[in-house]
Amino acid sequence: MKPLLVALDVDTPADAAALASRLRGVAGGIKIGSRLFTSAGPSLVEEFTSLGDRVFLDLKFHDIPNTVAGAVVAATRLGVWMVNVHASGGAAMMRAARAAADEEAARRSAPPPLVIAVTMLTSMNQQTLTEIGLRDAVADQVARLAALARESGMDGVVASPQEIGIIRRHCGNDFAVVTPGIRGGASTAAPDDQSRTLTAAEALAAGATYIVVGRPIIADQDPRAAAERIAAECRAHVP
Ligand code: C5P
Repeated sequence: MKPLLVALDVDTPADAAALASRLRGVAGGIKIGSRLFTSAGPSLVEEFTSLGDRVFLDLKFHDIPNTVAGAVVAATRLGVWMVNVHASGGAAMMRAARAAADEEAARRSAPPPLVIAVTMLTSMNQQTLTEIGLRDAVADQVARLAALARESGMDGVVASPQEIGIIRRHCGNDFAVVTPGIRGGASTAAPDDQSRTLTAAEALAAGATYIVVGRPIIADQDPRAAAERIAAECRAHVP
């Protein structure tokens, strides 16, 4: 499985379709987040899944268990390969997501999507935790939520480069770690708004299962060539 997932952080279905077609065969998957999904809707997701693209639907569901389950059923019907929820929604919510994915996939005789959890948004820090009434250190909060996600049947978590080690220690190796914040190496070095970055090779060496790369690929003059450079860096470092 190719570890490179490309974030299609563009506004229009036409831009997304053009990018996806240029990246086909290089990327292991494409990530559709709330920006593109809100403007383009589920039909774009279906267009990609029907072409055989692996779609990571990054909508970070966080609601009562019944509502999250319904959203995961809808995502499973679209044929997505990976979908995510917020671990802070709790064990019952994550279990409902897991069951919804498995049951809907079984009804369709299809493999269930990977269901992964966001522990803490990388935009959050110690001050943000204090603001929302949490006294734990960031690392402890991430470790607790990752362990809860694993116990609740999640296939993995999204984690910043700095958190990969903590998660591997608490959750073992049979657990997917999806890591954004990739810069340098074969990627452009410009950090944009990412404050804690690693190269693709460093992230994989630290234990990432998948890396999510957006602007270093989609903002390049030649997105396919940029993706090929990063994919080559990944191939050189995957054990
Ligand atoms: O353009 P860039 O490579 O920074 O894109 C990273 C992608 O990963 C974006 O779609 C961003 O929303 C997403 N992401 C992130 N940090 C997280 C979770 C997701 O940067 N903690």
